[in-house]
Amino acid sequence: MLWDRFKDYLCQNLKNTMGHDLLKGKKGIIFGALDEKSIAWKVALKAHEEGAQFVLTNTALALRMGTINQLAEACKATVIPSDVTIVEELETLFTESTKALGGKLDFVLHSVGMSPNLRKKRPYNDLNYDFFLKTLDISGISLHKVLQTALKQDAINEWGSVVALTYIASQRVFPDYGDMAQAKAVLESIVKSFGYQYGIAKKVRVNSVSQSPTYTTAGSGVGGFDAFYDYAEKMSPLGNATAEECANYCISLFSDYTRKVTMQNLFHDGGFSFTGISSAVMDSFKG
Ligand code: NAI
Repeated sequence: MLWDRFKDYLCQNLKNTMGHDLLKGKKGIIFGALDEKSIAWKVALKAHEEGAQFVLTNTALALRMGTINQLAEACKATVIPSDVTIVEELETLFTESTKALGGKLDFVLHSVGMSPNLRKKRPYNDLNYDFFLKTLDISGISLHKVLQTALKQDAINEWGSVVALTYIASQRVFPDYGDMAQAKAVLESIVKSFGYQYGIAKKVRVNSVSQSPTYTTAGSGVGGFDAFYDYAEKMSPLGNATAEECANYCISLFSDYTRKVTMQNLFHDGGFSFTGISSAVMDSFKG
């Protein structure tokens, strides 16, 4: 009797640390897990905890350089390489994923960004235009390629959810964000336009999450990131949102609790986006 109660207690505790089955039975594709700092990495761990099955994808180079196999093992996920700018590779990815998962998808995470101009430290008024096109393709237009491929293959179930990550520099000037600002503006616009099309055609929702500065490979590639991070922390009433918190938010958007949310750019930034000035920042100017 006592043993049974102890077992119940253990099971309950285990369940609490293991999630709430929010994505039980759901299948998905997660783009962009490079290493354990990646936002996509945290989303994958959470999605697994919440009962989802999914495919992890990244470029062949990133798969060689990163540690994605460890993540795949922890999440019992299949890894399929694809470059998000190459439609043929996306077509193979979606076909292979639905095969590997044994059915259509319920969620897709687009957590991809890269600017060769930022990498090469080109100032905004001295951009290389081949690089600029690459930035737009990888970080913005690729969302259209993902959505168009999925729709053509009818790869996502009704009420499925696509989430892309973005940053507020799409709307307000953050000088060190360079040409990524334009890429994110393109991305957010695709969220609206394709969100409409996908909603009408298949009842699939499309949203972007505008996340606080976060210490990751892509994040730290932005010039002066430390100062940027500290400033945002001081300007946000709730403080910067962490990658884990971002993952939780993405899970809620993949779940059935947000079925009528679509075409939105959703700020996940501790209140930064609507703060004109905070007392903490004011104080730093007082003599
Ligand atoms: P990360 O560097 O871990 O992830 C970026 C991913 O994009 C990497 O896995 C990389 O391999 C992948 N990628 C680059 N080119 C690709 C291509 N051609 N095809 C497929 N994948 C490609 O960094 P993080 O921060 O996790 O970035 C994820 C998303 O979050 C990005 O969209 C980023 O702009 C966004 N974001 C990041 C913030 C931050 O401060 N870290 C703040 C707001 C948004």
